[in-house]
Amino acid sequence: MFRSSERRPRAAIVAVTLLTVLGGAIVSDAAAQDRGPQRFGIGRAATAIEIKGWDIDVRADDGLGLPPGKGTVAVGEKLYQEQCASCHGEFGEGNGRWPELIGGEKTLKSDDPRKTVASYWPYAPGIFDYVRRTMPFAAPQSLSDDDTYAIVAYLLNINDLLPADATLDAATLKAIRMPNRDGFVQADPRPDVPAGEPCMSNCRKEPPKITSDLAQRLGVTPDNRRQK
Ligand code: HEC
Repeated sequence: MFRSSERRPRAAIVAVTLLTVLGGAIVSDAAAQDRGPQRFGIGRAATAIEIKGWDIDVRADDGLGLPPGKGTVAVGEKLYQEQCASCHGEFGEGNGRWPELIGGEKTLKSDDPRKTVASYWPYAPGIFDYVRRTMPFAAPQSLSDDDTYAIVAYLLNINDLLPADATLDAATLKAIRMPNRDGFVQADPRPDVPAGEPCMSNCRKEPPKITSDLAQRLGVTPDNRRQK
């Protein structure tokens, strides 16, 4: 009796304190938003040079963002042997279990699909973007633009997509048509999906029908009661 009556006011004090703190937090957050992005008084706008360091993507399909520069297959071969062959093999055949970069044509639908530059990549500019961004594996983004053009020229050469005396630059790279160019968009093979253009708006004609409650019975739906 004595204890519970002592506790009640304490609980009330805790509740009031919590409300005050929470309320204060909400009010001060709203006030902070009014003051805009300056609210913490720290940080500064990124400089153009800093943004340039991050903004290195090349759009895979049309090559938007490809830098100026160029490189020959011959120079690329030398750089490749120094920086890439230890993993990918002298001719892209792959060393041990490191990824191979040549061959694999017509294997994508087989039980043992081999994804290489020639068998898999749909667009040539994407190879430039990938190599400059990620390789060599242990020193990504260490290649200059010219070196990247040269190495990609060698990669395309060993995949029979560029002659040995060729020079690669933005224009010649964009002009290369990769063998798997049309391999990515195919008709949906599922039997219950209608053929033709996929529907993108107002597609559902009837309300969905629940055909099994197995997931509920197994208890793996997030909230069994709400699903009913
Ligand atoms: C230390 C080993 C190593 C070295 C050296 C290396 N790579 Fe790689 N490379 C990898 C690994 C591992 C992957 C797979 C990465 C992944 O799937 O995330 C890869 C993937 C690739 C791919 C994509 C393969 C595909 O078709 O899916 C290309 C292209 C490539 N590397 C090019 C290069 C080039 C060019 C160099 C040299 C400048 C280089 N690599 C150096 C290990 C290496």
